Amino acid sequence: MITPVQNQLPIAETIASRLITRSGQRIGTLGFGAASLGNLYHEITDADAVATVEAALAAGITYFDTAPHYGFGLSERRLGDVLRGRPDIMLSTKVGRLLRPLRDHHGTAERHGFCTPMPFEPFFDYSYDAILRSHEQSLQRLGLAAIDIVYVHDIGRLTHGEGHAETFAQLTTGGGFRALERLKSEGAIGAFGLGVNEWQICMDAMEHADLDVVLLAGRYTLLEQQALDAFLPACVRRDIAVVIGGAYNSGILATGTRRGTSHFDYAPAPPAIVAQVALIEDVCDRHGVTLAAAALQFPLAHPSVVSVIPGIGNPDRVRQTLALHQEAIPDDFWSELQAEGLLRADAPIPCRN
Ligand SMILES: NC(=O)c1ccc[n+]([C@@H]2O[C@H](COP(=O)([O-])OP(=O)(O)OC[C@H]3O[C@@H](n4cnc5c(N)ncnc54)[C@H](OP(=O)(O)O)[C@@H]3O)[C@@H](O)[C@H]2O)c1
Repeated sequence: MITPVQNQLPIAETIASRLITRSGQRIGTLGFGAASLGNLYHEITDADAVATVEAALAAGITYFDTAPHYGFGLSERRLGDVLRGRPDIMLSTKVGRLLRPLRDHHGTAERHGFCTPMPFEPFFDYSYDAILRSHEQSLQRLGLAAIDIVYVHDIGRLTHGEGHAETFAQLTTGGGFRALERLKSEGAIGAFGLGVNEWQICMDAMEHADLDVVLLAGRYTLLEQQALDAFLPACVRRDIAVVIGGAYNSGILATGTRRGTSHFDYAPAPPAIVAQVALIEDVCDRHGVTLAAAALQFPLAHPSVVSVIPGIGNPDRVRQTLALHQEAIPDDFWSELQAEGLLRADAPIPCRN
């Protein structure tokens, strides 16, 4: 999608792609969540960031998701520097948070989860002018001439609480969606949608704009399938593609319960979640299945889902993730999860036969 350069090695075709129907773009079923490149929870060096993205490209990963929020510009800068000039990748970033300079900022103490040296503080603005500014600033940090997908970041009650009506109005009557439609019609972006940790807001947004694709994080996983009731059927009906973030629910579905503290939704996992995952691990043991492989592959069985984008922070994780994506999982494993009530009976499952 991005300007071709002749001297790049072609990406190995190890990962299938699916169609984002409304935009006509193809996207890899396994993508790269680049919050890690913004020094999420701990610092990584520039060299490690580059090595991780290069390992992802070598593994055949062609879809990368970032945001201005991830390290307050750091993830976008690092990602853009490696991906620039690749005709064969898809990149998404986000709008809704602008970055304000912090003149007296020093060091990398954690702020909003990120241990970043970038001297900026994010603030929310989803209005027409702010969306255009955010898009332009992302182009400059990325060093790219166009962006494949733009998501409206963290709109909704979960993030904004009592301020929700006001921030949502910035998108609707305040022209935020109109700005995205303009960028798409001008070819500055290929597609747009929301990037959120709640599906309810996506249902509301669908009534105001023609979303191409939604990035839903943590809300359609082995632990949580309420999205099956209304949201995912609405996406199928409207041809809205779904990208799944947080397929490990921020950790526990990758680490399991047997290696000390595990995380669920960015905090230590509560006992009920640990107990539920322990039961899933027992089924995994009986079928010789890796928990993280099941967590990564499950969402892709839904007809609206086009990609799953785990958080990846080092080259070893890239190789591990590719193996998890490709692990053969017997049909009986999924049937047993459903028979035991550990997975909804109406959830589409990734059958091999
Ligand atoms: N609102 C939004 O738009 C939104 C919200 C959330 C996420 N996202 C997107 O989705 C991406 C992924 O989400 P996420 O990072 O929140 O959640 P996630 O992928 O569910 O979990 C990431 C965590 O799992 C661990 N992990 C990953 N692979 C592992 C493996 N093979 N074995 C053991 N542990 C493993 C990582 O540990 P290490 O740190 O040790 O690697 C990291 O702590 C983000 O980077 C972002 O692109 C978007």
